[in-house]
Amino acid sequence: MERFELAKQLIRQAGAALRQCRPDRSEVARKTGHQDLVTRWDKATERLLRETISTAFPQDALAGEEYPRVSGGADAVVWYLDPIDGTTNFVNEHRNYAISIGCWQGETPLFGMVLDVEEDRLYWARPGEGAWRDDTRLKVSDRETIPELLFTTSCIQYTFFEDHPCRSGMLRLTEDVRAVRSLGSVALEICQVAAGEADVYVTIRSCPWDHNAARIILQEAGGAISSLGSEPLPLDQNSTVLAANSPAMLEKIRQLYVMAQ
Ligand code: IPD
Ligand code: CA
Ligand code: CA
Repeated sequence: MERFELAKQLIRQAGAALRQCRPDRSEVARKTGHQDLVTRWDKATERLLRETISTAFPQDALAGEEYPRVSGGADAVVWYLDPIDGTTNFVNEHRNYAISIGCWQGETPLFGMVLDVEEDRLYWARPGEGAWRDDTRLKVSDRETIPELLFTTSCIQYTFFEDHPCRSGMLRLTEDVRAVRSLGSVALEICQVAAGEADVYVTIRSCPWDHNAARIILQEAGGAISSLGSEPLPLDQNSTVLAANSPAMLEKIRQLYVMAQ
């Protein structure tokens, strides 16, 4: 079985298992602090993903949130795995959490998959084949002016209250757009931009497993993504993220709200 087909089966299998789980308080632990949680379900899901992938493709590298990186050979295919993106929502029995699988060879994207677990809806893309939610083709919105935009950000505390260089620009952006939303899942929020349900997305902190699947989906749907600075979004480092419904909108937001603080 090729990687893409394996991933499609595996992500559905892992999602079905997660839908049966109702995390108990005693199963929730803090990692770096009270805003950064892990449950035994995050770990069990990542183990299932890792074991299945490494049995089928032992030469591949694995970069997942809950366990140390497994390096592959030179030029190895790398799988970026977030077993639950939106753990706080999962713990609170909110609907919005996802499993995210991004597969890359060097800088070349192979495919991205994000499963909206509770809805059992799979966002996926392969370069050149478009972006999809199950069997429905996705396309970004055509909103072109700032006052029409729906702006989403996955962590309100970081984006608007932490001291970072773009903070005043982000506050101005909230005043100029039509509305601001927060789902609490980097992967699902980037997929919302891909689906045309949101128009711009920002986070001040994102890890490779948070964004490396959804970025492929967004780009295949016609959107654009980068860091908040002038650099491209890195593959293997934590970064800020700016995602938009078009390259022109990305540039407009960067010029008006990031460069001009
Ligand atoms: C988190 C979620 C959250 C975002 C954090 C992420 P996790 O991922 O995507 O919305 O604000 O930056 O770390 O911990 O639930 O996998
Ligand atoms: Ca995550
Ligand atoms: Ca996670």
